[in-house]
Amino acid sequence: MTMLIKVDPLKPAEDVLRKAADLIKEGGVVAFPTETVYGLGADCFNISAVLKIFEIKKRPPDNPLIVHIYDKKQLEDLIDQDYQKASAIIDVFWPGPVTLIFRKKSDVPREVTGGLETVAVRMPSHPVAQKLLLLSATPIAAPSANLSGKPSPTRAEHVIEDLYGLVDAIIDGGETPFGIESTIIDFSRERPVLLRPGPATIEEILKLVPNLEIPDFLLKKINEPVRPLSPGMTYRHYAPEKPLILVTNENKLDEILLKYPEAPVICPQEMTTRFYGRRTIVLGTLKEPFTIAQNLFHVLRTVDSITTNAVIAIGFEPKGILFSVMNRLRRAATEIVE
Ligand code: TXA
Ligand code: MG
Repeated sequence: MTMLIKVDPLKPAEDVLRKAADLIKEGGVVAFPTETVYGLGADCFNISAVLKIFEIKKRPPDNPLIVHIYDKKQLEDLIDQDYQKASAIIDVFWPGPVTLIFRKKSDVPREVTGGLETVAVRMPSHPVAQKLLLLSATPIAAPSANLSGKPSPTRAEHVIEDLYGLVDAIIDGGETPFGIESTIIDFSRERPVLLRPGPATIEEILKLVPNLEIPDFLLKKINEPVRPLSPGMTYRHYAPEKPLILVTNENKLDEILLKYPEAPVICPQEMTTRFYGRRTIVLGTLKEPFTIAQNLFHVLRTVDSITTNAVIAIGFEPKGILFSVMNRLRRAATEIVE
């Protein structure tokens, strides 16, 4: 049975969250909101609880989970290296939408890290996530709370759609503010590497970590072989069930529109007049690019309920948060026209 718990995202009532925390302590699995997307959490030191996450999501066992903490002191229980290298990022972005990878302590179960010797750690800023972590009194391992391969959930309804009946509780804290998953930086090697662009933009991160390596697979076509730095990066992801054609080359747009006369177009508000007479799905305005990120996964989920056989998405110039949005669109696309 799944308990549905509704909370005020800004001032979550403690007695209500305590029920969810008790479930975590008893080895249960609980979906909760964070400032990025909803997570599906379990006590990171309880191996059978962690294994339930993989089973519920149908997640490949080699795809590691992120461990969530509420206090820097908890890092000492998880990592086996000096985190000074990351202090500029930690000072600015923790708590917040940035995940850091370090060499792990041997106590951190290999089930959590997909067999890797490193562990991903994040300190979320969402009041519900923070309070749940505090009351649970243990680091919480949590991937995004979707079925593997589906877009990450940005609303409790998305979690209910994928996981109702499979998890012990779903905490409904409304829509998640950033709407795309955290930025991931690997600090376990000599040189820091960006593994996933996210709400903390690439430009901001580069200012704090000038020697950051940005692997070119982040902006490559789908299905190209990539260095398996991060197992989760190699799967097609966020994928709607329908063919999604991502167009980044304006010169080829008319050709694609002719080829798919019925297909709706996912685009920013500013472009809707370009598609006069055709159905458009507005992601947001280019004047507020963060709203485009916030709406992205909801739109990708609605695509499947549309009665056409394909959908066209218009690419963005990959700058700021739109760099991260393009990374997600590329991984969702079945075809990229560039
Ligand atoms: O915003 C977020 O990060 C959300 C919320 C719930 O915190 N979580 C999330 O988790 O997006 P998930 O599991 O959907 O994505 C985690 C990514 C995966 O691509 C995984 O491969 C990578 O992090 N990852 C985790 N541990 C890693 C490690 N030790 N080395 C390399 N990549 C790792
Ligand atoms: Mg995920």
